Amino acid sequence: MEYHQEEMDELIASLPKEKAFLAPSLCLYQNFWFPVTPQPKTGTTWLKALVFSIVNRHRFNPSNTPLLASNPHELVPFLEFTLYANNAKPNLDDFPKPRIFSTHLPYSCLPESMKRSNCQVIYISHNPLDTVVSSWHFFKSLVQSENQPERSMEEHFETFCQGITGFGPFWDHTVGYWNESLEKPHKVLFLKYEDLKEDVVAQVKKVAEFVGLPFSLGEEKEGVAQEIAETCSLRKLKDLEVNKTGKFMPNFENRSYFRKGEVGDWVNYLSPPMVACLRRIMEEKMSPFGLEF
Ligand code: A3P
Repeated sequence: MEYHQEEMDELIASLPKEKAFLAPSLCLYQNFWFPVTPQPKTGTTWLKALVFSIVNRHRFNPSNTPLLASNPHELVPFLEFTLYANNAKPNLDDFPKPRIFSTHLPYSCLPESMKRSNCQVIYISHNPLDTVVSSWHFFKSLVQSENQPERSMEEHFETFCQGITGFGPFWDHTVGYWNESLEKPHKVLFLKYEDLKEDVVAQVKKVAEFVGLPFSLGEEKEGVAQEIAETCSLRKLKDLEVNKTGKFMPNFENRSYFRKGEVGDWVNYLSPPMVACLRRIMEEKMSPFGLEF
């Protein structure tokens, strides 16, 4: 569908708005809060590095992978923040195969063409308790680099629980993809950050099978999946010059995408009442669909 800038401006002006941390113009559209900054913090960067390495493994190895010189977000560009930003109209068919793109859009907001096409979707989810902590750290690093006032964890937690976060409510976003993965397992693969932490090699093999590129017996013997897991490890990526000093989009320091990477870090930041509050939301909004963290 063709949109004109004036129509877009009119539509945006008509939407309910809220202020959230570092998102002065969060707009409610089709029941989700759309931000000016990308922010789910569920392991997107890791997933991009892994998928890029899996589908390109016959072209690149650990010593010549483009990951050594480029942040994963550059190699797997965002549709909304990069490719279609500033009214650009790229022809995705012109991109060389294998074509991998990323998006933070909720499933219900994906274009129909994407839902009907043969394109496959790999979603990464994350325990909301760890997500709220991870996103707080991410914002802290952003406001520091922009010299803006910091926001307390309590304030951040409050808006997160109200569902007013970029692409939130967080649980509705997750449940949307979860339900689709149950209904169309060939179309949507639903991963959990926690499962990747537990056994990344098993998840690498799962992704390879899902995209129709399973590891051959020879590759199994050579330990290619293990090699990919190692190349994409937090330790390795965090230590690369490009991720220590580079920037992604105007305001994002590459280093802000790599922090601790530990499951259960929330115990160090959330008080017992905060944990109880978010657990209640998870029970109400996620558990009925069989989604547990
Ligand atoms: P923490 O803040 O808990 O450390 P996103 O990529 O969606 O922004 O998610 C960021 C989270 O993923 C951060 O979690 C970050 O440290 C973690 N992360 C980034 N790269 C990773 C990797 N290669 N392996 C494991 N975790 C990674």
